[in-house]
Amino acid sequence: MSIRATSDQWWKNGVVYCLDVETFRDGDGDGCGDLAGLTDRIDHLVGTGVTVLWLMPFQPSPDRDDGYDITDFYAVDPRLGTLGDFVELVRTAHGRGLRVIIDLVVNHTSDQHPWFQAARADRSSRYRDWYVWADEPEADPALGEVFPGDQQGVWAYDEATEQYYLHRFYPHQPDLNVANPAVRTEIARIAGLWLELGVSGFRVDAVPFLLEMNGIEDAPTVDPHEYLFDLRQFISRRRGDAVLLGEVNLPTEEQREYFGDERGGGLDLIFNFAVMEKTWLSLARQDATPVAETLSALPSVPFDCQWASFLRNHDELTLDQLGEHEREECFAAFGPDPSMQLYGRGLRRRLPTMLANDRDRIEMAYSLLFSLPGTPVLFYGEEIGMGENLEVPDRLAVRTPMQWSSEEGGGFSTAPVDRWPAPMPGGDFGPDKVNVAAQRRDPESLLSWMERLMRRRNETPELGFGAWKVLDSGVPAVLAQRCDWEGSTVLALHNFAEEPCEVSLTLEGLDDAVALDDLLDGDRHELDGPKAEVALGRYGYRWFRVVREGVPLQP
Ligand code: NOJ
Repeated sequence: MSIRATSDQWWKNGVVYCLDVETFRDGDGDGCGDLAGLTDRIDHLVGTGVTVLWLMPFQPSPDRDDGYDITDFYAVDPRLGTLGDFVELVRTAHGRGLRVIIDLVVNHTSDQHPWFQAARADRSSRYRDWYVWADEPEADPALGEVFPGDQQGVWAYDEATEQYYLHRFYPHQPDLNVANPAVRTEIARIAGLWLELGVSGFRVDAVPFLLEMNGIEDAPTVDPHEYLFDLRQFISRRRGDAVLLGEVNLPTEEQREYFGDERGGGLDLIFNFAVMEKTWLSLARQDATPVAETLSALPSVPFDCQWASFLRNHDELTLDQLGEHEREECFAAFGPDPSMQLYGRGLRRRLPTMLANDRDRIEMAYSLLFSLPGTPVLFYGEEIGMGENLEVPDRLAVRTPMQWSSEEGGGFSTAPVDRWPAPMPGGDFGPDKVNVAAQRRDPESLLSWMERLMRRRNETPELGFGAWKVLDSGVPAVLAQRCDWEGSTVLALHNFAEEPCEVSLTLEGLDDAVALDDLLDGDRHELDGPKAEVALGRYGYRWFRVVREGVPLQP
């Protein structure tokens, strides 16, 4: 298709920002973040350059997996507000040009969900087949535990009805049986409600687990991806430009099927776990080779699809796709203390603490994130460089309240800390040192720098829409990428090493190149032919647009 599709494919150019309502801002002083508090801070998000808000689950929940254990898919957790508050939030966001997507967590429910309660109360309940039961589950290597150490297998025995039920996550999260047409209808109805209330799509939780039929007796033998295509079609019928952003933590070759191979029709965006993990390995080694190789091997994605790039999210920094030695290297570099590690595969830390709060290196990492082929996804607090609180258990260490100011309660809440979801960190990362209010007033702050970066990313459609490739920079520490789109070329260079260096690049097919316009510092570098010599400082980074003879400069 040749039409200029930049506004149609809104998910390809922009910045996604993930937050948990519970920890963002407490509007009513009860110690718990809420929708009203978040609505008050929409201008902060829009002002930084965020274009899509992703809300982690906010439905009623016993909160044993921080809301990823839902008891009512059609309501708002009363601690966070009401459906009315949700609509006010969405309307306010839309008024500022901000889209809202929400988590769709339908691989499982909470064991407190009325469906599961009915299913386990009576074998003849109409909800019995909404879950996956077995008399004597067979050991199946394809059914592994997701939280090793916190789970004893994936089958739990239900004393009352004398059968086992499947739970790929915690035992209090029984898996729904998606082979059951009634469950599929219900999932469509759930998506339908939130689409009707204005969301622009969903971050789909645990997609491979949702689709898998392992363990289901008499499961149909059709390709499980077919269900994803059905769901996609339903969503498109309800709202043509709604997206599905999928959590598919698999090697990239396997992720392709979830896009719908070449043809599309599945997920529109998929988190790029492989590139994220290799980026951390490259950071640990001060060598861009691992991430360069992974980028070069990425399969192409369909026209309407896109990778979602991230460096940290709300879970542990999983390094499960790395080899054991590679993972050990990352652990040694970024989380040597066992208290920082989780499930034997990840780190429960935020980016700035892992990078020893080294501003040069932090900027390089985010500059890279924003120039990778894909749509960047930030986790709340990344824009100000928040750290984790290791006193808070497990993955929750990185989900402490947003640090708004240095006043008591960090601007998050006026309630005493013991009523909060989790305490903020102290020391160098406490709210007196790291907060929005102070950084807004300081043009040199990380927040001010991030705002400039986000603005630049949004104004550089070559990165979101272009054809890209990794260039040979001649220096192993440097990742050099080139993006071409509609006759315009952007180069992004990142030095993973502390040692400054110089790279030499050949600009193939750009014989009319006359200069490089530095998109981040505004300088212009004259060229003498289609060759560029570029100096990069300690953890240096540069984005250039190639200036061509007779083609007017863009701002
Ligand atoms: C993936 C989510 O990212 C994680 O936080 C959650 O615990 C599991 N899915 C289960 O829903």
